Amino acid sequence: MEVTNVTEYQAIAKEKLPKMVYDYYASGAEDQWTLAENRNAFSRILFRPRILIDVSKIDLSTTVLGFKISMPIMIAPTAMQKMAHPEGEYATARAASAAGTIMTLSSWATSSVEEVASTGPGIRFFQLYVYKDRNVVAQLVRRAERAGFKAIALTVDTPRLGRREADIKNRFVLPPFLTLKNFEGLDLGKMDQANDSGLASYVAGQIDRTLSWKDVKWLQSITSMPILVKGVITAEDTRLAVQNGAAGIIVSNHGARQLDYVPSTIMALEEVVKAAQGRVPVFLDGGVRRGTDVFKALALGASGIFIGRPVVFSLAAEGEAGVRKVLQMLREEFELTMALSGCRSLKEITRDHIMTEWDAPRTLPTARL
Ligand code: FNR
Repeated sequence: MEVTNVTEYQAIAKEKLPKMVYDYYASGAEDQWTLAENRNAFSRILFRPRILIDVSKIDLSTTVLGFKISMPIMIAPTAMQKMAHPEGEYATARAASAAGTIMTLSSWATSSVEEVASTGPGIRFFQLYVYKDRNVVAQLVRRAERAGFKAIALTVDTPRLGRREADIKNRFVLPPFLTLKNFEGLDLGKMDQANDSGLASYVAGQIDRTLSWKDVKWLQSITSMPILVKGVITAEDTRLAVQNGAAGIIVSNHGARQLDYVPSTIMALEEVVKAAQGRVPVFLDGGVRRGTDVFKALALGASGIFIGRPVVFSLAAEGEAGVRKVLQMLREEFELTMALSGCRSLKEITRDHIMTEWDAPRTLPTARL
């Protein structure tokens, strides 16, 4: 059957993938309230389109940290992509560069920074998990920089792994024929079977729970790459991120996989945008599945969005072609949304093009009877 929207890839992936892998990709933490809310919240935001504007030419291009990209739709880091498809991160990297957009490579990728760089040109960011052993971190950051990665996305919402009950039930573990390629040779590339989620045990053993703002400073001292802080959802932390030298903020709840009952990212976005006061760009990930979602995020002040699950699901279904198609469908839907809203460039998308539940009721013209 022909795939006509991004969401349809999920069912195909479910058919194709082993249960343990599909559940790892799909699930959220605990009650998965935030997982549903990441989607539901978009559906409560409505449009206020403008009409009779010449929309024969539409420009979707934008600049992120000084890098020109074809559209404000980018790829979030998702771990272990070779579980979805043998080409894994290679396929994602190729699809992203074909679409003229940015791929973020996970620390826990099943392909190394060097391998991904070898797929050819492309603007790539590297997502960082900070290990207890800071030599490991420093080495990895240097390797990413040398391999041509342009920024670090520092994930700050994972001092411990969220409780993903499907992974506990399935005793999730990285299949033995794969490794966390960036850590191969450092004796940290394998994941041991555990009595619950193998990943949760790996995180408990290796990831540094003491991580704090001073480490953001430390990171700046070991790299010249700009640092995006990924996982901010409050105004307070936005101000701290700016004070501590972040080059940008990614409003993210980790695809609802960490703390359950945090708001959807689209609900948290405007608070962060206001606190950032234009000092750094603000991005969003979480639940983006339609071009209309992209538009809503931009109308609320995001400079761009990232997609997570649509990449692994389309990868599972069709490899590189699937990821290309996801990017293309989102692009086309977003372009259509702009046209039907009367916007010809990203800067023409304004807060007045949408209405939210938290807007003050508009004063309607009094009916003259
Ligand atoms: C993730 N995410 C993630 N984030 C991160 O910083 N490092 C990582 O290694 C991973 N790995 C990962 C694996 C899988 C299977 C998922 C679904 C998510 C979170 C990811 O970057 C992003 O925040 C969310 O996926 C965005 O939400 P959607 O688009 O999946 O709804």
